[in-house]
Amino acid sequence: MGNCFGSSAQVDSYNSNPTPGVSKVDAGRRSRSDLSNSIVSAPSVKSSNQSLPTPRSEDEILSSPGLKNFYFNDLKTATRNFRPDSLIGEGGFGYVYKGWIDEQTLSPSRPGSGMVVAVKKLKPEGFQGHKEWLAEVNYLGLLHHPNLVKLIGYCLDGENRLLVYEFLPKGSLENHLFRRGPQPVSWATRIKVAIGAATGLAFLHDAESQVIYRDFKASNILLDAEFNAKLSDFGLAKAGPTGDRTHVSTQVMGTQGYAAPEYVATGRLSAKSDVYSYGVVLLELLTGRRALDKSRAGVEQSLVDWAKPYLGDRRKLFRIMDTKLEGQYPQKAAFTVATLALQCLNPEPRSRPKMSEALEELEKLQDLKNGNKSHKIGSSPMRSPMRNNHSPMHFTPSASPYRQSPHAR
Ligand SMILES: Nc1ncnc2c1ncn2[C@@H]1O[C@H](COP(=O)(O)OP(=O)(O)O)[C@@H](O)[C@H]1O
Ligand SMILES: [Mg+2]
Repeated sequence: MGNCFGSSAQVDSYNSNPTPGVSKVDAGRRSRSDLSNSIVSAPSVKSSNQSLPTPRSEDEILSSPGLKNFYFNDLKTATRNFRPDSLIGEGGFGYVYKGWIDEQTLSPSRPGSGMVVAVKKLKPEGFQGHKEWLAEVNYLGLLHHPNLVKLIGYCLDGENRLLVYEFLPKGSLENHLFRRGPQPVSWATRIKVAIGAATGLAFLHDAESQVIYRDFKASNILLDAEFNAKLSDFGLAKAGPTGDRTHVSTQVMGTQGYAAPEYVATGRLSAKSDVYSYGVVLLELLTGRRALDKSRAGVEQSLVDWAKPYLGDRRKLFRIMDTKLEGQYPQKAAFTVATLALQCLNPEPRSRPKMSEALEELEKLQDLKNGNKSHKIGSSPMRSPMRNNHSPMHFTPSASPYRQSPHAR
């Protein structure tokens, strides 16, 4: 989830209010882009929740089958009193701690025994709050898919709002892509992550009741031990348009550098806004650079502005490729990914591919790799957990995404 960030867009008015004291964090352990660059507009008068399916009440959301309602004290015990050395991440919404619970009873267990979980605790001073917390419970309570993080339960206790997820041992893509570590992310892994994340987004977009993720970025893509990508952080997710509508009109929220230009300018949100953000993440995978880097000068601050001129030219592409790859990537595949990124970044939303089409393109690369062993990269074969299965799984058809206030995000 994001913080508040001013912007020059045309949506009603913007709130320029970066959360104080959050920009200087240890980028290795914590989620940096979640802490800055987030954008949010003031509530839009254009909100049109009339067109959405019947909202679920808070009670209905909180009684989603399969979700455990945790006691605050149990989560306190599970995380050893939210000890700083249990901290594994930080976003705009909350601090995320590692904890231990019993696999059967889900009650807290001794560190090292039982099941590891990630516990997100809403920041008391957090700009966002209950609505985002409830959105996560709502969507992750309904949607189950190998490329979405699994929500185990939640806690609502006085002012405290917490979420308990499966623990993803490799943390976020952001932590791997931008840190200076001895082990840079290989090309094969980058493609695997791109395919996993695309599969997750395609699942949301093709669900019977479409869901727009709205905050697709490297810090919200979590990785399991085998680098399978899982989308987390559904705080800004939103029900897609229904009937003949092409978009929903809503407040502008998301993250600067990732948000689609037409959405930032007009508040018109569609699945194609996610496709744009996906294109930005493809650029991050190609270049190893952040979507927005204020430490750079001029055009280089914006990854899209900087990279775009090189994407369509096979001979120039190498100039923007991540030097950490040390040239260890198949040039043809890199050009295919660059071309796809350019399509996703098309200023005209209708000209962007659908997520399922983008996914197909990437899977062709994987097929090529699996059929052709003579390329440069030599790691284990890449396999998408959802290959050839783009259809929604385990979606509860009767349950519709919630929408509570006319100022819903
Ligand atoms: N299930 C998890 N397993 C491991 N790390 C996690 C998990 N959930 C979150 N994190 C870490 O915490 C960071 C912030 O989590 P996120 O859900 O994005 O919070 P926010 O809603 O505040 O943005 C992530 O970028 C990641 O580094
Ligand atoms: Mg986040």
